[in-house]
Amino acid sequence: MDIKPLLIFCALILNSEELYLKQVVILSRHNVRTPLSKTLSQTSPKPWPKWNEKPGYLTPKGTLLEGYMGEYFYSWLNQENLLTQECPSENEFYVYANTAQRTLASAKSFADNAFPRCNITIHHANQVDPIFNPVIHNTSSIFVQEALEIMENHMKNLHLNHSYDALEQILDYTHSEKCIEDHCCNLATDKNTASVKTGTKPNINGPLQICKSAIDSFIMEYYEAFDMKNVAWGLLNTNKQWESILDISHSYHNIIFNTTLLAKDISEPLLKYMTDIFLDENKPTITLLMGHDANLYTVLNAMDFKPYSLKEQHEITPVGGKIVFQKWSDNNTNDYLKIDYVYQPSEQMRNGVKLSLENPPIFETLELKYCKVIDNGLCLWKDFKNLLMHL
Ligand SMILES: *[C@@H]1O[C@H](CO)[C@@H](O)[C@H](O)[C@H]1NC(C)=O
Ligand SMILES: *[C@@H]1O[C@H](CO)[C@@H](O)[C@H](O)[C@H]1NC(C)=O
Ligand SMILES: *[C@@H]1O[C@H](CO)[C@@H](O)[C@H](O)[C@H]1NC(C)=O
Ligand SMILES: *[C@@H]1O[C@H](CO)[C@@H](O)[C@H](O)[C@H]1NC(C)=O
Ligand SMILES: *[C@@H]1O[C@H](CO)[C@@H](O)[C@H](O)[C@H]1NC(C)=O
Repeated sequence: MDIKPLLIFCALILNSEELYLKQVVILSRHNVRTPLSKTLSQTSPKPWPKWNEKPGYLTPKGTLLEGYMGEYFYSWLNQENLLTQECPSENEFYVYANTAQRTLASAKSFADNAFPRCNITIHHANQVDPIFNPVIHNTSSIFVQEALEIMENHMKNLHLNHSYDALEQILDYTHSEKCIEDHCCNLATDKNTASVKTGTKPNINGPLQICKSAIDSFIMEYYEAFDMKNVAWGLLNTNKQWESILDISHSYHNIIFNTTLLAKDISEPLLKYMTDIFLDENKPTITLLMGHDANLYTVLNAMDFKPYSLKEQHEITPVGGKIVFQKWSDNNTNDYLKIDYVYQPSEQMRNGVKLSLENPPIFETLELKYCKVIDNGLCLWKDFKNLLMHL
């Protein structure tokens, strides 16, 4: 006898009516990559792990995990009747990725595993893509001045001594090249300098950036399943130890991406692109946008999401994580919006745990300040439209 696994199918219900899924826009961050920084060796006398890929490239683990995401999304969207044929037309499933190797390769792994027999096209620009490029657009000197002030103010109010101490010990910072040759030996007191320039990404030079880069490497080492004695040289074994340093990377990202002035300016082209999909009924049923943490951070801020927290994750915008905008409808043509942060827990990523309908990724429902949730995470589509028109 053919025994099918029992699925507990939880339909989305509003006012005791079953809703159906109409459209999905997936704003994704690429999956596990090698560390970006080329100057890590200056920040610790200890050897950093070797990677087989170039800096910033998707790793084999990243390819595997993004493939799991693709397979999972296929199962989910198929279950919700959003797919009508084995190989979707571009009106059903459209993929658009930034031009970086890690975003193109992530999109390809997602699409190839969602639709293994279909040769899905990954749309992308042929040079730097202004839609995804997280740079400042405003050319006025007033803007630059305002942004600098906001960033400097934010930096003045940080309380990171505890985290800096923990990181100095992990890195053995006082024996690093940075300390010995540049005489920057105290992360808590060395100066951070904000830089804001039209046409570039906002940046911070100093301990915040040094620490953020080191932590980024530790996080990727962990996902890539390096032996724990090689993840931060064996000094990050407990959640408490992780928590002691993560505040620094959260602060770094908050300063450059999570202020309304900067986020609205940086995300404007991507927001326009997304708004167009939400407002035009003829757009594809499913759109996958493959970008970077900068894209997710700035969109979250610019659209005015309420604060959220992702359980079982070290990162605020995890690699492979997706903000999934869903348009649901009842049979009386009332449309609703639901938004979930869909991601895999850190430990599952490390262990390469496969996703399926029985073992789905985490769906953490997000809320927008200006789209009031009525029930089950749903807000009115017309409120969302109104919000988009005032962005
Ligand atoms: C997939 O599509 C591309 C672009 O349309 C084409 O160049 C390639 O030959 C196709 N590959 C297969 C296996 O069909
Ligand atoms: C540029 O920034 C200034 C100062 O914040 C603002 O007044 C102006 O509207 C901005 N320009 C654009 C095109 O957004
Ligand atoms: C952080 O530590 C530095 C010295 O390492 C000290 O000057 C500063 O007052 C400390 N800040 C706080 C908020 O404790
Ligand atoms: C952005 O900043 C707000 C307010 O400071 C905070 O509550 C929120 O968690 C931050 N968002 C992210 C994604 O870090
Ligand atoms: C609502 O409409 C959908 C799609 O047209 C249909 O599959 C479903 O059976 C309808 N549900 C009810 C409760 O009428």
